[in-house]
Amino acid sequence: MESSDTTLFVCVTCRAQTTDAPQADLPRPGARLLAAINAVPEAQRAGLAIEPVECLSNCNRSCTVAVSAPGKWTYVLGTLDPDLHVDDVLTFARAHRAHEAGLPAWRTRPEYIRKNTISRVPPLPSRAPDEVSSQ
Ligand code: FES
Repeated sequence: MESSDTTLFVCVTCRAQTTDAPQADLPRPGARLLAAINAVPEAQRAGLAIEPVECLSNCNRSCTVAVSAPGKWTYVLGTLDPDLHVDDVLTFARAHRAHEAGLPAWRTRPEYIRKNTISRVPPLPSRAPDEVSSQ
């Protein structure tokens, strides 16, 4: 089995962007997004660790995920619908994984993801241990 070197964090506490009253008997859209991603055939998730997380601080543009890997840029993606955007999220996550710096070419990103990228964060700079302790 292939190791998972890229993590797809899925906010399971995201709520729907609607003025309708929440339906208490239904799982939150974030939890539904996680379930939908986990229901995709494993081959489409190869190399990805799928991790639930509570709040990525993008509540006003939910649902939200983040794609991250050691030494790579981290991307936060939002305005995701669990019924519509699972393939787009996984396509982006695979492209992120395939790029050595986590910077997939613009043309390889699904259009919806291009328009709903909330932020990107550079990888941590590598420092020698004595540099870290002196700061
Ligand atoms: S609850 Fe999902 S980003 Fe805050």
